[in-house]
Amino acid sequence: MKALVVYDSVFGNTEKVAQAIGAALGAPEEVAVVRIGDASLGRLAGVDVLVVGSPTRAFRPMPTVSDLIKGLPAGALQGVRTAAFDTRLSPQDVNSAILGFFVRLFGWAAEKLDKALVGKGGSQAAAPEGFYVVASEGPLRDGELERAGAWARQIAAG
Ligand SMILES: Cc1cc2nc3c(=O)[nH]c(=O)nc-3n(C[C@H](O)[C@H](O)[C@H](O)COP(=O)(O)O)c2cc1C
Repeated sequence: MKALVVYDSVFGNTEKVAQAIGAALGAPEEVAVVRIGDASLGRLAGVDVLVVGSPTRAFRPMPTVSDLIKGLPAGALQGVRTAAFDTRLSPQDVNSAILGFFVRLFGWAAEKLDKALVGKGGSQAAAPEGFYVVASEGPLRDGELERAGAWARQIAAG
């Protein structure tokens, strides 16, 4: 199984999650983990599994990440198993009722990425997932990298 994990990250937390997912997906020679700027569309050729991740910013993925998917030709992901993840804040952790209100309205990034991937022909390999940071710049909550590994193993198991 050839897998590609593509992500963007501002403070490094999404990068850590992407690396944990890559490590759990399969052998290093079968899995590439690349930050979005280095992810030429050519890397998609022959990929069986595509995992895309972004920090949630203003309830959405970063434009770099959504634009990469938007830029794919129609049907480009036909035959590819796809999955999306984000990093996010929990309204409880930051004790913000306002964030809670807007999250209920607008959600997070992973669901939007998942829809975009399926819109380009991808078949959903796992439900979209979010991994929590305890503050905007991190760190990740304890146990999130392990949870990311478990999510990836579920994808690898098909
Ligand atoms: C400008 C800005 C907007 C953000 N918007 C949201 C948001 O809408 N929902 C949320 O859960 N977290 C939000 N966050 C927190 C980010 O999700 C957090 O910074 C990110 O997960 C860290 O990932 P990174 O280290 O890979 O950049 C925001 C952070 C910043 C700086």
